[in-house]
Amino acid sequence: MAKIKTSFFCQNCGTQFAKWQGQCTSCKEWNTIVEEVIQKPEKTSWKTNDTKSLRISKPLKVSEIDTSKEARIDLRDSEFNRVLGGGMVKGSLILLGGEPGIGKSTLLLQIALRVKHKILYVSGEESQKQIKMRAERINPNSDNCYILTETKTQNIFKQIENLQPEIIIIDSIQTLHSDYIESSAGSISQIKECTSELIKFAKETATPVLLIGHITKDGNIAGPKILEHMVDTVLQFEGDRNHVFRILRANKNRFGSTNELGIYEMQGSGLREVSNPSEILISEKDGELSGNAVAATLEGLRPLMIEVQALVSTAVYGTPQRSATGFNAKRLNMLLAILEKRAGFRLGAKDVFLNITGGITVDDPAIDLAIIAAILSSNEDVPIQSDYCFAAEIGLSGEIRPVQRIEQRILEAEKLGFKAIFVSKYSKLPESSYQLGIHKISKIEDLVE
Ligand code: TYD
Ligand code: MG
Repeated sequence: MAKIKTSFFCQNCGTQFAKWQGQCTSCKEWNTIVEEVIQKPEKTSWKTNDTKSLRISKPLKVSEIDTSKEARIDLRDSEFNRVLGGGMVKGSLILLGGEPGIGKSTLLLQIALRVKHKILYVSGEESQKQIKMRAERINPNSDNCYILTETKTQNIFKQIENLQPEIIIIDSIQTLHSDYIESSAGSISQIKECTSELIKFAKETATPVLLIGHITKDGNIAGPKILEHMVDTVLQFEGDRNHVFRILRANKNRFGSTNELGIYEMQGSGLREVSNPSEILISEKDGELSGNAVAATLEGLRPLMIEVQALVSTAVYGTPQRSATGFNAKRLNMLLAILEKRAGFRLGAKDVFLNITGGITVDDPAIDLAIIAAILSSNEDVPIQSDYCFAAEIGLSGEIRPVQRIEQRILEAEKLGFKAIFVSKYSKLPESSYQLGIHKISKIEDLVE
């Protein structure tokens, strides 16, 4: 084997060093120096001898490029396919990030057990027995899925060469280790080197690779930011571990839109695709209760009817408490201030608790009106009719603002049997007639009435 040359580079300013040190003497940043391979032997172990399978690229006119060949692999999971933009593109590298225990391994194992292609699931985290036990719960009869427990990339490539799988899953990138770098698995330089080996492999053999990536405390994928630039698609798997819903979204996608969203429910036998989330997010109840309001929100491109619950009670201690689950607490304070100023509600002496059902976090400003309605309803102890829903943003002066794609929201509300929707007076609605009543309001005062 030819000699491997490595050197140390500052990730901030690019200065090269002969050995590792804590601080970069050039830009004075700490902990930015990382080992990188600068020269490695020509022949990498995964290469086969027949060079015909390798793609050699040459310049082509845009009109000459054949896109029909870009056949996508059907993963037999409609949510996952849609988030990817209609299936997995050959030769693409997909990174799936998410908190520990959220179900990343379960999701990918489930896909591995379902697809009709020969698939290799490489795990550096669990033993073959552990995976088998999990697989038995999900789908015990699968013939195409091979399990390998290995962390050294050179060995993985050797096995790939023997097996010739059509899809590869790596659980996880942080456990991989390349011989070319001395630092331990999970370090920035290891992650970078292993990913670039995998990219080279994926592009040259047109085999798609799915990578699982851990995330750090602040929610970023562990490892260098460059990892996200290197791969074709970055998916995020999120949700509240104490709730059953999981959301899959694309943060970056070179082969599709980032607006699509996949929704799953965690069950005893794996993750179930949820094709009509709105029905589940609205809790069943007998009769009407005060403090509940339904918002017609959009998650990416998907309309979602979400139930908001508010509880307003007299503050027991001096400072009133405000707590929000699934909603930005600062925005809740802002909405309360608007209510106080514009609608004359003395909420300063009240505790306000807000909860979005299903453990989902909502950023869509269209939920504002439903929140205000829920708070008012709880404060007055007057229930809102359960077949009413809301979709509008609130401005600082208490004006009700229109939100985007109002038509889509109305259609979803209609589909689910709502009788009326409250929207902004300024919403641009097409002339067509709807079955449900549309109430147009322009000020909070109108809502109070
Ligand atoms: P896992 O896929 O191991 O999470 P990650 O790889 O993201 O760390 O999923 C862990 C959780 O999923 C675990 O707490 C148990 C739960 N689970 C189920 O509820 N049902 C199932 O069928 C499986 C396989 C797991
Ligand atoms: Mg796992």
